[in-house]
Amino acid sequence: MKSILITTAAALLGTALFTQAEAPAAIKAHVTALHEAKSFKAEITVQKLSGGGLEKGTVSYSKNGLFKIDNATTLAVSDGKMVWILNKQTNTYTEAPASLARTKDLDVWAWAAFFNEEAFKGIKSFTAKPAKTIRGNSLTEYALKLANDKEISIYIDNKTGIARGTITPDVLILASTMAVSKDEIDAKEFAFAAPAGAKKEEVKPSSATFAEVQTILKNSCQGCHNDGNAKAGLSVDSYAGIMKKITAGDAAGSALYRSISGSKPRMPKGGAPLSQKDQDTIAGWINSGAKNE
Ligand code: HEC
Repeated sequence: MKSILITTAAALLGTALFTQAEAPAAIKAHVTALHEAKSFKAEITVQKLSGGGLEKGTVSYSKNGLFKIDNATTLAVSDGKMVWILNKQTNTYTEAPASLARTKDLDVWAWAAFFNEEAFKGIKSFTAKPAKTIRGNSLTEYALKLANDKEISIYIDNKTGIARGTITPDVLILASTMAVSKDEIDAKEFAFAAPAGAKKEEVKPSSATFAEVQTILKNSCQGCHNDGNAKAGLSVDSYAGIMKKITAGDAAGSALYRSISGSKPRMPKGGAPLSQKDQDTIAGWINSGAKNE
């Protein structure tokens, strides 16, 4: 069984060899509880810490491989076989077999263990912080260093033992309600109906060329990221310039991809997010080695 979340977890954890810190007991208990459940539902808020209001969304998972992640900008649905991702801002969507789908969303990482028991394998280090109350919930924060060196904190709810959310350096995701159940959710809830006028975009199973990727970046980024004016050290004028913000083989771990993806892409600064198709083209190129060809 493949799913958008498994893809996420696999991308995050990569193929690193572990100098592994044993996951803390609280995280193991969280993983076990989610893994034994048949369904999981949460209402979430997404907050960009550098500014902006609370964005609401919902997450529902059901065994096996069914999920729906819905927020202001993106709807991602899978019936276990296909994955549909709708970009609400451009009213475009992709449809792909679950095995091919790539996710741009690290937002729901806290609950990846629902589908993937191994979600927390390979942690390099962790620090448990003192319990604190956020929006009325008593939580313990575990700051984790993942196998790919990405740092993320997970908030375990002290009452239920299940994570209520995550914080990445820039974004706080927190569930306001959570329901873990021994019953599966009706498959009808995971059906996708394209909204009126939505345009379908093709998902390429194979990877894109560097030329295709550079064309996208020149169109949307060159104004602020060129050899003469390379904001944050990124210039899209050359392969070498682009590679400064890429980890070959790991889109989720690449600053460039992270900046254009997720529910609130930071880039292009002040402009409309890239289409789902363009995001997928870039992810595909990175994941297949980010070659200069
Ligand atoms: C209007 C100007 C502007 C445009 C257009 C723009 N950027 Fe940026 N970018 C910036 C500035 C300024 C920074 C410095 C940090 C900040 O302000 O967020 C930055 C920082 C970055 C960073 C490093 C920091 C981070 O967020 O990880 C990356 C990667 C990046 N941009 C990628 C892109 C990509 C890819 C595009 C095109 C899809 C793009 N930018 C378009 C202005 C821009």
